[in-house]
Amino acid sequence: VPLETQGRNLTQDVLDLLDTKETLQSNEDFPAIPQKDIKAALDRLASRSMVEYKTNDKEQVNLTPESEGIVANGSHEFKVWKAVKEAGKIAIKELPNIVGKDSASVGQGNAFKNKWIKKDGTDLVLVATEEPEDSMQKLLKDIQESHTVSDAKQLNDLKKKKLVTVTKVITYTVTKGPKYAKEMPVEHTDLTEDLLKSGAWETANFKPYNFAALGAVQNAGALHPLMKVRQEFRNIFFSQGFVEMPTQHFVDSGFWNFDALFVPQQHPARDMQDTFFVSDPPMADKPRADPASEKQMDQMEASSQRLFATEQSKKEKKPRDFEKYWNDVKKVHEDGAFGSIGYRYKFKDEETLRLVLRTHTTAVSTWALHRLAEDPRPARYFSIDRVFRNETVDATHLAEFHQIEGVIADFGLTLGGLQRFLGDFFANMGLENLRFKPAYNPYTEPSMEIFGYHKGLKKWIEIGNSGMFRPEMLEPMGLPKDMRVYGFGLSLERPTMMKYGVSNIRELLGHKVDLSWIKEQPAVRFDKE
Ligand code: PHE
Repeated sequence: VPLETQGRNLTQDVLDLLDTKETLQSNEDFPAIPQKDIKAALDRLASRSMVEYKTNDKEQVNLTPESEGIVANGSHEFKVWKAVKEAGKIAIKELPNIVGKDSASVGQGNAFKNKWIKKDGTDLVLVATEEPEDSMQKLLKDIQESHTVSDAKQLNDLKKKKLVTVTKVITYTVTKGPKYAKEMPVEHTDLTEDLLKSGAWETANFKPYNFAALGAVQNAGALHPLMKVRQEFRNIFFSQGFVEMPTQHFVDSGFWNFDALFVPQQHPARDMQDTFFVSDPPMADKPRADPASEKQMDQMEASSQRLFATEQSKKEKKPRDFEKYWNDVKKVHEDGAFGSIGYRYKFKDEETLRLVLRTHTTAVSTWALHRLAEDPRPARYFSIDRVFRNETVDATHLAEFHQIEGVIADFGLTLGGLQRFLGDFFANMGLENLRFKPAYNPYTEPSMEIFGYHKGLKKWIEIGNSGMFRPEMLEPMGLPKDMRVYGFGLSLERPTMMKYGVSNIRELLGHKVDLSWIKEQPAVRFDKE
């Protein structure tokens, strides 16, 4: 309460005034003080039963700049009368030049009606009275003092002419309470050792609790909505036995991002349009083991096995042969292999080794599937992390965003099974009755775009991409011929925008994000839409 800044102790002022007056009227007795400050002081006193107060909700009539002008200089008709009086005789069309256009048009009609001026038989007018009574000026002067108009019709009329405005004001009527005193008694805020020892606690006056006080604003950190929705998706994946893949490599080689996925080297997605290439260093090593990611994935798998009490494979692990894998991928592209006729072009090693900002997290899934070939068994993997594409930034596209991706490896999987899985998966986020549209990915066949009906927007929207990985991608990894792998991906931004009602992606991610908006988002959303 800014009582101090007002330079006065309002609480004491109220007590002082009540000593001399039965009833206080806040707007009259404290005309200069904001009503909310008065209320704070009154609440303080009322909570101690020192005063009682009533809240009045009343309308106040205020003058507009135009009517303030009338109070100061007279009504329009008065100005017209004065101009005629000073001129003696004057042509009507001269009046605007003297009293102004507005006063002339409103004022002359009224001046005639009031019989303050009259025509002399020609075009000229002259005054018809020497002492006009300016009742409009008097009325507005009264309103300026009383802030009221008792006649409702008159009030309406003045409002219509834009001579007054009406505002609501809250005022307080204050009287003494049962514990009124001339001064605030000393109040203890704590029960101290001294009060206890001396026995003074028995009669001491304790400051009452103020249960209505709001806590101080905490300057704490906050989770970004994207990270909250990411956690919701992680929970869905974990609950279905998925293992999280390590996604810390934002930079990867063309091999994992494209070639191992059977994306031809002249594919448009690979050129400068869509891919950010790294210039320093420009080249990766040939594919090799990655101990840090390896260890992380081992740990994630072990904890999932514990959680779901799945049995660990007893088979001997077959170590990966990166050299053979590289050669087989190359063979598939150049001449075809594993039942594929290939693309029949000259495979360039330099292209494969170029470093890129990964354009999709399928680069990570590929790595994980190659690892799975050490001990082929049913597996479910997912990841949610950043990807980069050299796209024109607009309301729904950014050059970097997050992908949610899942792969399921098993024997005897069918396309219908993928549709069923996706149906269950999206039902967890409130999207039901999915539709699928045939699509193309170099690494899946068949491929399907996923559409969901958005009840809020009342239309079908694309929510993801999916498919069954091609044998010419899986077999070079060393996965058995009869193993099938589903894959699907979607952006994290789209469901987050839907859940948080954001229509421009730039409000969610990037330099235009309003940090206070992020802070204000509730810790938990209860909607499942
Ligand atoms: N990589 C695809 C994309 O970026 C998503 C996808 C993943 C599709 C796995 C099929 C299989 O849109």
